[in-house]
Amino acid sequence: MDKFETILKAGNPKLVQPCQPVTDFSKRLHDWVRAMFNIMELHQGVGIAAPQVGLAYQLFVYGFQQNQRYPNEKPISKTICVNPIVLDYEETMLESYEGCLSLPGLRGLVPRWEKVHLKAQDVSGTHFERQAEGFEARIIQHEMDHLQGILYPQKMKDLSTLGFTQEMLNAGIL
Ligand code: NI
Repeated sequence: MDKFETILKAGNPKLVQPCQPVTDFSKRLHDWVRAMFNIMELHQGVGIAAPQVGLAYQLFVYGFQQNQRYPNEKPISKTICVNPIVLDYEETMLESYEGCLSLPGLRGLVPRWEKVHLKAQDVSGTHFERQAEGFEARIIQHEMDHLQGILYPQKMKDLSTLGFTQEMLNAGIL
């Protein structure tokens, strides 16, 4: 079974290349998904995209029961998104502090659509649609960006809000 040892960090060229669609829904994909959830949970992530473990495929997973990095967020069911497409979104944007396992220790204020309507395939290739809002919509947009080689600082309006999580916690900003 595949096991991913590390999460690639910003600066690794594999994080900025676009991803190809998944066409093979065999055991290999199931193994990748399991291994992605494992390394995500090991690092207290709420979502992880395939390029973060070096796979240039249109695939991400997210979901958690409770999370140390985002202790105030409600649980989100574990979800696998293969070949995702945004069908529609709510024009209203919300700004909130966001982090990424590829930029460990940092947070920045990122505007995201309030709601998003997503179409994707599950690990078996079955199509499904998902309406998400709030933190889940934020995670989806963040992970979709990874599949385009985009990291969240590129979506920030004000880079002065980028900083270290611990400093922001100390200052009561988070
Ligand atoms: Ni990320």
